Amino acid sequence: MPDAVTMDKIVSLSRRRGFVFPSSEIYGGMGSTFDYGHYGVLMKNNIRERWFEAMVRNRDDIVAIDSAIILHPKVWEASGHVAGFTDPLIDCRTCKLRFRADKLEDSQCGLKPSKHPGETPECDLTEPRRFNLMFETTVGALQEEGSRAYLRPETAQGIFINFKNVLQIARRKPPFGIAQIGKSFRNEITPGNFLFRVREFEQMEMEFFVPPDEAEKWYRYWIDERLNWYRRYGLRDSKLRVREHGPEERSHYSQGTSDIEYEYPIGWGELEGIANRGDFDLTQHAEYSTTKLEYVGQDGERYVPYVIEPAVSIERIMVALLIDAYDEEVVGERERTVLRLHPKMAPVTAAILPLIGKSDDMVAKARSLYEDLRRRHSVEYDDSGAIGRRYRRQDEIGTPWAFTVDEQTLADDTVTVRDRDSLAQERIPIAGVGDWLENALERDWKSPKAN
Ligand code: GAP
Repeated sequence: MPDAVTMDKIVSLSRRRGFVFPSSEIYGGMGSTFDYGHYGVLMKNNIRERWFEAMVRNRDDIVAIDSAIILHPKVWEASGHVAGFTDPLIDCRTCKLRFRADKLEDSQCGLKPSKHPGETPECDLTEPRRFNLMFETTVGALQEEGSRAYLRPETAQGIFINFKNVLQIARRKPPFGIAQIGKSFRNEITPGNFLFRVREFEQMEMEFFVPPDEAEKWYRYWIDERLNWYRRYGLRDSKLRVREHGPEERSHYSQGTSDIEYEYPIGWGELEGIANRGDFDLTQHAEYSTTKLEYVGQDGERYVPYVIEPAVSIERIMVALLIDAYDEEVVGERERTVLRLHPKMAPVTAAILPLIGKSDDMVAKARSLYEDLRRRHSVEYDDSGAIGRRYRRQDEIGTPWAFTVDEQTLADDTVTVRDRDSLAQERIPIAGVGDWLENALERDWKSPKAN
């Protein structure tokens, strides 16, 4: 069966169901900037939680950090961002649009009929010039030389500059890692494709410090670990691949980079990057700060560790999960749209529904079950409208299970469990719902779309 999903359908469902709204809408919108509604927030929390669990909580060799967004401006000189974090920019004097010189074939000219920039006689393009992607700001009341600072374009540098703190205070010895989750900012020339390329995004990065002669081994290790994380949370194998960068494509710091790519409706695109950054960052910061950044063992062994870095944004993962989960099917005579999300990624784990919203007895039982479950799980209570409509609403936000209180519940204290994907229903005792849910969440899960 061909995949029914398009980026437009994801944008529309996200908006309709309150995952993601275009930002500043009442002021006419702010292109490629988004606000997250309730379900978007819950889903982002899940992505963050699953990442943190896999990268920090379940391991002994990685610790967390939360560094400032505005760092000393010298950080960005040392890291190479002031000089080199640029894209080649071209302006069109006729249609006034801006394009990336290296992506003209992916861009649309502002004139009709739409062509690529430079393809119509009216196009009047400037020569390419380097455009730095960092957002500048000033610190303090005065805008003067020395007050210029930047919003961080990656979280990684906040980790490198804390290397010594962690080494000493957390008493770590390579191989060990430092993980950080937080907002990053890039003044992208061509943002777009919904959340795929935005100017403000939440990165999840981990810098893994290793003895130089182990770098290649750990680079391969982290590619496998991260690929398996995506598989575990249900992204289909057929939509995932690893692509190794050629030497000409690598960033200035990289000794090797592989992208985990996902096949978005716009084609294969980078989901996460895993880089072997060598000793570039620690060496640069040591030189610019004149602080020694190296590992010294008790036996006098001394070296600057190499760094392996898996780096991704919550936004890229969210788009991939939504796309992978989106499905349409006809059940009976009716069409339904369903998000077949991994139960641990779905914003709501279970819905609690009285079959008849006007029945005081059913409402009381359902509310009491809801009050009990909400202490441990993300659950939702809904008694408004026909039951079929309530189920369809939960399908569209990807809720894996619904517990329904009906006539029989009042007689024997059992409820039905409806499965989002198979639509199968079973009856279980109301007192066993909590355990049933705990067990169901721990089961291995595979996308029904993979069949
Ligand atoms: N510290 C290395 C680094 O930042 P990157 O390849 O520029 O490397 C890492 O970014 C990840 O951050 C990407 O794989 C992608 O998941 C995410 N990312 C980068 N730019 C983004 C943007 N404009 N919008 C959303 N996510 C972005």
